[in-house]
Amino acid sequence: MKTMKNKRVVITGPTSGIGKEIAIGLAALGAELILACRDIEKGRQAAAEIAKRTGSSNAVVMHIDTSSQQSIRDFAREFRRKYRRLDALINNAGGNRGTLPKVSSADGIELTFATNVLGYFLLTQELLDLLEKSTPARIVNVASTYASDLDLDDLQFERRPFESFKVYAQSKACNRMLTWALARRLDGSGVTANAMAPGLIAETGLYRNAPAELVGRLRQYGAGRTSAEGADTAVWLASSPEVEGVSGKFFEDRRVIRCEFRNRKAEEKLWGICEELVRQKPSQK
Ligand SMILES: NC(=O)c1ccc[n+]([C@@H]2O[C@H](COP(=O)([O-])OP(=O)(O)OC[C@H]3O[C@@H](n4cnc5c(N)ncnc54)[C@H](OP(=O)(O)O)[C@@H]3O)[C@@H](O)[C@H]2O)c1
Repeated sequence: MKTMKNKRVVITGPTSGIGKEIAIGLAALGAELILACRDIEKGRQAAAEIAKRTGSSNAVVMHIDTSSQQSIRDFAREFRRKYRRLDALINNAGGNRGTLPKVSSADGIELTFATNVLGYFLLTQELLDLLEKSTPARIVNVASTYASDLDLDDLQFERRPFESFKVYAQSKACNRMLTWALARRLDGSGVTANAMAPGLIAETGLYRNAPAELVGRLRQYGAGRTSAEGADTAVWLASSPEVEGVSGKFFEDRRVIRCEFRNRKAEEKLWGICEELVRQKPSQK
């Protein structure tokens, strides 16, 4: 890995699980971190843990709720007020409703889709010009090999019964598809966009609302894989000279893996739907 000295990285969801370990990995390489958190106190605790484990106190905590478009825009405005450049963006914050019922975000969008999909999409759009001014720059989207149940005509499970693991799996398919569509748009810009899968890590907060017997089974499948192991590929994608200029690829354990959701027409349809869903009404401008 390359030193990340003088490199500024925004990471969402650094307060637990994989995101915290990505932050620790990047701090250990000398990066300046912007910890984008919905809970400032948890963010401060994460910053203290990062400092303790790496000796680096080069981390700033900023508020964002990635399920809320207003919050994402406020974050970007505040970021822009403070900073002129951004070297890497790691979209990681996500959730799974588990046994909790379907709910809508502040924008009236199914919450998992709002957070896991539009949260990545809109934050990237909001920070893209800064990344483009800071080339070479990198975008890393934390996706998953657990991806299925894509229905572009029912992304918010209005027609299908709400089943949280299907909703989650669809969101992770969307993360990849939007990464491929983004990489196409960024071709030649000096900004790369890749997706990665951390592997199954039962110890994170992602399964906190899942039924207990499922968590037990996940622990068996996950075979004790740690968040740090899951974070490694994201840290590598954000920092390594080995992937300089590499874009539009799906990685697991530092290797390119196949993505079964490569379909330009479907990716573009999804992109268009996301654009529409984040479009500001005249009164919001
Ligand atoms: N664990 C796995 O097996 C696995 C496998 C494949 C992919 N992933 C992906 O890895 C990523 C991280 O998940 P994890 O397993 O590390 O789970 P986690 O421990 O629950 O971490 C999720 C992080 O996202 C933050 N977050 C959630 N909703 C947010 C919102 N609306 N606004 C701002 N921050 C929000 C959480 O903040 P709080 O601390 O405030 O809750 C937390 O920091 C997710 O994208 C997930 O899909 C996980």
